[in-house]
Amino acid sequence: KTLKDLGNLQGKRVLVRADFNVPLDGTTITDDGRIKAALPTIKALREQGAKVILMAHLGRPKGKVVPDLTLAPVAARLGELLGITVPLAADTYGPAAQAAVAGMADGDVVMLENVRFNPEETSKDAAVRAGYAKKLAALADVFVSDGFGVVHRAQGSNYDVAADLPSAAGLLVEKEVTALSKATDNPQRPLTVVLGGSKVSDKLGVIENLLTKANRLIIGGGMTYTFLKAKGYEVGTSLLEEDQLEKVKGYIETAERNGIELVLPVDIVVNAGFPAGDTPVNPEVVDAAAIPTDKMGLDIGPKSAKLFHDKIVDSRTVVWNGPMGVFEVPQFAEGTRAVAQALVDATAAGAFTIVGGGDSASAVRNMHFPEDGFSHISTGGGASLEFLEGKTLPGLSVLE
Ligand code: 3PG
Repeated sequence: KTLKDLGNLQGKRVLVRADFNVPLDGTTITDDGRIKAALPTIKALREQGAKVILMAHLGRPKGKVVPDLTLAPVAARLGELLGITVPLAADTYGPAAQAAVAGMADGDVVMLENVRFNPEETSKDAAVRAGYAKKLAALADVFVSDGFGVVHRAQGSNYDVAADLPSAAGLLVEKEVTALSKATDNPQRPLTVVLGGSKVSDKLGVIENLLTKANRLIIGGGMTYTFLKAKGYEVGTSLLEEDQLEKVKGYIETAERNGIELVLPVDIVVNAGFPAGDTPVNPEVVDAAAIPTDKMGLDIGPKSAKLFHDKIVDSRTVVWNGPMGVFEVPQFAEGTRAVAQALVDATAAGAFTIVGGGDSASAVRNMHFPEDGFSHISTGGGASLEFLEGKTLPGLSVLE
């Protein structure tokens, strides 16, 4: 169900679950992409004269009030973007929330405090969560689920609450599902998937699913080293998941058997160790088959960047999830930058390109690539991965 299924929302109290789980440096938001992504739904509801009550989580406070994880910076930033004041209620369903909602005029926006400050939100006991959801639902007339980044979770404010109110997906959830489906349902081929990020173990499901769907799988980032090791190369002190080696060997065999092109880096940028604090770094490019025993791989090298670029622009659909290296450190950011540029070039050549959320989305924005250089930048991290894995996502199925 989508917004239009909810009918006329003039004067209605609309409880909206958003994903405002943004990266923070103290109280400074370092990437407001998720807040901007929530604007279309909020604006559409205000234009209809609805009262918009926003719910969201920040971090993982584990059911306790953690002052550093207050949504205050988010409410302030959202207010700036909308050009209005967005008051933050000090609780989620208690006296503060009730008073804030009671005082709303049509078109107003209020935000409830971090829904995870309450242990019931993430309780494994469905009855406990349902009890919490009922208290949230009592604040409103309808529920709109627009936090795509949490649809892979079954939690009080995004899942259970849908049982208590007429519910629908917001514009962001609708847009994400439409875009990501272009990679999962009859994609234009060749379909190239670029995977990075630190751990293979985070991406097992997506790799397994894509080994039957993609035409080409490009591997970079920290997981590279487990793949290189599985091929028999030494990886020095690079990140290695010994316990995943057998699985990865199996993936390499499956790819061969299924005629899927598996592309690994051919050169690597290494350093004496992981960059820490002010310790100067000493980057050096080595052959992927010759990583010195005392060196750590921290980015893909220039030959790999060129190879990946050529493969990416030779695709009709591209999905990218996970950085190619330690992109927070400029000396190890070039691989990630090169992949982002390759997606931009592929988009210009008519391919459908998806940046799959999390760190890669932040990298693209922080490196100032234009948003319209990509067909879709997902706001989901785990959610977009699970979507690509082909899993049923509870936050979506509950809206059907
Ligand atoms: C995310 O950042 O991926 C979402 O906000 C979900 O957060 P979670 O992994 O803490 O549930």
